[in-house]
Amino acid sequence: MEEKRKILIDTDPGIDDGCAILTALSDPNLDILGIMCVAGNKSLPVVTPNALRLVDFEERDIPVCEGSPCKLKEIGLDLVQENEGVEFHGADGMGESGLSYTNRCLSPVKAWDFMLEKIKEYPDEIDLITLGPLTNIALAIQKDRETMKRLRSITIMGGSFEREGNTTRYAEYNIWFDAEAAEIVVRELADDVKMTFVGLDGTHSCVLSFDEVKFLEFEGGRRGELLSRILTWYMRNYWFKDGILGAVIHDLYTVLCLTHPEVIEEEKMLHCDVLLDDEHYGQTKETEGSGNVRAVMKINHRALIRAWLSVLMPEKQHLIDQLFPEA
Ligand code: BDR
Ligand code: CA
Repeated sequence: MEEKRKILIDTDPGIDDGCAILTALSDPNLDILGIMCVAGNKSLPVVTPNALRLVDFEERDIPVCEGSPCKLKEIGLDLVQENEGVEFHGADGMGESGLSYTNRCLSPVKAWDFMLEKIKEYPDEIDLITLGPLTNIALAIQKDRETMKRLRSITIMGGSFEREGNTTRYAEYNIWFDAEAAEIVVRELADDVKMTFVGLDGTHSCVLSFDEVKFLEFEGGRRGELLSRILTWYMRNYWFKDGILGAVIHDLYTVLCLTHPEVIEEEKMLHCDVLLDDEHYGQTKETEGSGNVRAVMKINHRALIRAWLSVLMPEKQHLIDQLFPEA
């Protein structure tokens, strides 16, 4: 039997983070070593319970670690987190999921220490997926860069190279939220660790439809029902805030780009800088230099829906083949 892929997930759940985590938890080919939380979509005390909710929901024994409650430049300032106004993800930060949680899997170890411990235990074997701001990763690099270089790969939901940003004209949310952290991660790791950006160029090329989400609800059991509920919240916001009818599930696509590379239709190698000046703060920019990161530029909708549904409801493969035949 092939060995399972060892994964660490760093996240700020978040509806699309929730979809991504639930999918990763359902994937029999993954060995999820831990889930590390970071402030982003909502404050740390709001997002950490969402990770705990999901491991409880799936009845899994996976450590959930708390990470940074604020961006790098705010560490030590003792500020009150002000991002509760980000209502895109609902009051609980996960589309009013209604799920309860316990602290059963809450680890006493901080995210950056946990990450370093696991990499030392499995050097060159771990694929790190980041679905939120890069604060925890930058803190781990500042603590022990040599160990971080022993990641096998890092797949980042963040950035936008050819599209406008979704937070400012230039910046995507995760990178904008802590651009200093993102700048450190790219500068310190891109030459040594295989780095992939799944940014808005890629994610916005694939809009999942209401029909696809309803199919999940009708056939996907309790997972499908939960996903459909939180995605309905998400799609309502996409419609009223962005005029997009359907769901662009950034963080889910990011996980699938790693686990099911057939979903990537177009990619390019480029040299990436993260800009920190006021106007362009948080922009990921392609600059002169040899390509040190891979950017996903287009996602194949059919391949993605097939991969996603097959992970969530393998027992319904005949229906998946019927409704969404291989292109
Ligand atoms: C990213 O920002 C967050 O709101 C989402 O969870 C996703 O990770 C998209 O820009
Ligand atoms: Ca996220």
